[in-house]
Amino acid sequence: MAAAVSDRIATLSQGDGLVFGCDYNPEQWDRSVWPEDVRLMQEAGIGLVAINIFGWSSINPAHGVWDFSALDEIIEQLHAGGIRINLGTGTSSPAPWLTARHPEILPVGEDGTVFHPGGRQAYCPSSPLFRAYAAEVVTRVVERYGDHPAVSLWHVSNELGCHNALCYCDTSAEAFRTWLRARYDDDIAALNRAWGTTFWSQRYSSFDDVRPPAQVLSLRNPGQILDFQRFSSDEQLALYRAEAAILRERTDVPVTTNFMVTAHIRNLDYWTWTGDMDVIANDHYLDRRLEDPRGELSFAADLTRGLAEGAPWLLMETSTGAVNWQPYNLAKGPGEMVRNIAAHVARGADGICFFQWRASAQGAEKYHTALVPHAGEDSDQWREAVELGGLLGRLGEVAGTRVEADAALLFSWESWWAVENEGRPSEGVTYLGQVHAAHAALADAGITTDVVRPGAALDGYRLLIVPALHLISDEDAAAIARAVENGATALITFFSGIVDEEDRVRTGGYPGAFRELLGIRSEEFAPLLPGETVFLTDGTTGSVWTERLKTTDAVAVASFADGPSAGAPALTRRAAGEGAAWFVATQPDRIAYRDLVARLASDAGVTAHPGADRDVEIVRRSGDRGSFLFIINHGDSAVELAVTGHDLVTDAPATGRVPAGAVRIIKEDV
Ligand code: GAL
Repeated sequence: MAAAVSDRIATLSQGDGLVFGCDYNPEQWDRSVWPEDVRLMQEAGIGLVAINIFGWSSINPAHGVWDFSALDEIIEQLHAGGIRINLGTGTSSPAPWLTARHPEILPVGEDGTVFHPGGRQAYCPSSPLFRAYAAEVVTRVVERYGDHPAVSLWHVSNELGCHNALCYCDTSAEAFRTWLRARYDDDIAALNRAWGTTFWSQRYSSFDDVRPPAQVLSLRNPGQILDFQRFSSDEQLALYRAEAAILRERTDVPVTTNFMVTAHIRNLDYWTWTGDMDVIANDHYLDRRLEDPRGELSFAADLTRGLAEGAPWLLMETSTGAVNWQPYNLAKGPGEMVRNIAAHVARGADGICFFQWRASAQGAEKYHTALVPHAGEDSDQWREAVELGGLLGRLGEVAGTRVEADAALLFSWESWWAVENEGRPSEGVTYLGQVHAAHAALADAGITTDVVRPGAALDGYRLLIVPALHLISDEDAAAIARAVENGATALITFFSGIVDEEDRVRTGGYPGAFRELLGIRSEEFAPLLPGETVFLTDGTTGSVWTERLKTTDAVAVASFADGPSAGAPALTRRAAGEGAAWFVATQPDRIAYRDLVARLASDAGVTAHPGADRDVEIVRRSGDRGSFLFIINHGDSAVELAVTGHDLVTDAPATGRVPAGAVRIIKEDV
């Protein structure tokens, strides 16, 4: 039987602590730097190093030419230094000779633009040629290193689909048709029904005529776009599977790839990927373009844990400080890196790896921070990295424990795609905007939530939050209704339950899939302009959305006091079976949302962490090895909390005082 995930991750650590690792690109440095790197890695406690991620042009510099000498050497040096290896298959970016020889591999954008080599991921994901060459690279790498004792994890490609998820070339078009034939059982009438092609004379008589939804003069067919998203996610998964199969034939070492559960990547439905991963691994960078970057971090970490079905996971990449790919690459403030890392661990990460080890002196990422900055060892950044290594080394007992949560937030990539598909009621309704607002309300109220897929087992959760779950199947909607009947309290937010899996509106009044459960019937959407707010009769405000709904079997807890839906219910509640189903028809302001969620939680018997609020993040992990309370004070003033135990950050008895900006990880007295 395969080892439990927590054990698999634990074996990646250098000592007894949590895994501390990094991406390492020794090919960017002279060989004379390598021994120094290993020495510094040992000093910091680095246990796991990802190499060969972008190795293709180093190990296979020309057609038919293979040179593993540098990789052999670095693997030996790391091994001799007691450092484990997370070995990249090396296929993430084709070597220039390959695209020069086969330009037909290059990806094509929706306007027909061919994307040239010179960046990364310059390949069409469906290209059989690319896949064949990549398979040869993987095969050679695993044949050479598959039995090496230092190789502890296999890292397939890198951030699959980060840039090239949607390709519109002829090869992709053919692959899309093949995928559609399978989805619709070779029945073109079924495709026509699913896409509603009677509209605008789009009816197909043959699969041969179907193309990807490339740029057109008008709005496109939303059904076609949705299926293209599904297809594109499946193509990336196929790339992963092909490499994983080659590896698994030759090694028992766990295989994974780095997910991008983050705000700006939405093309991969990771719910469909998890079964193929031996360890769930995620890359996460603070996104300063967002209104609430650290709220997004907490959400992404909770979603990653959801992908791992509650088991520990690995943070495969993050940055020590600024990245270099946002318009304004802000440095992290004092203690911010540790707070970020503590939030990931609090929310289930059993290992923390950074991109990258040594800051590049050349190339597109030369201004991206790293564990060893350009300034070298004599720097606050390096000292902070060593200190972090010390902390992770003291957190070994946390490994394998589980995050405690009795609330669940339902999340779906298909809803993300459908909510933001073309021709929607309001561009102000973004899926993540609604999901983040709901997650922030829970966090502000001190409630830890799991993030689960629609269709997940919901028993055990007393509180369900269902934000903008636009596309939902009958079965998944029924599962939510059943959970409510059995005693859960559910909060369903506007634009949920509107369409079925084929993006077809459920007619008869919105929100079709939840009309009965909620006891409401809505006749018309009335979204708001950017910046516009409306008052509710309870004195709170809402933004983004209103709608003209009536209660059929629910109580109107608050109504719209003004705005386009004045007089209509804005917040409703229906008692159903042993539970209750609530609906909110606008985006409540942040305080009102927190208060609403807190009220529902207390009705549902969900206890909030005392002392938690918008600035003070509190999460508990527990298991056989004890109970660990994570307190992260993001605020400007110290807080006092009633806790007893041993603080693993200060390595001293917990005092309950958490200074401004500080982190406390308390092994609680039982
Ligand atoms: C990730 C990628 C790394 C590096 C990093 C920079 O997307 O996997 O190779 O580019 O971002 O933040």
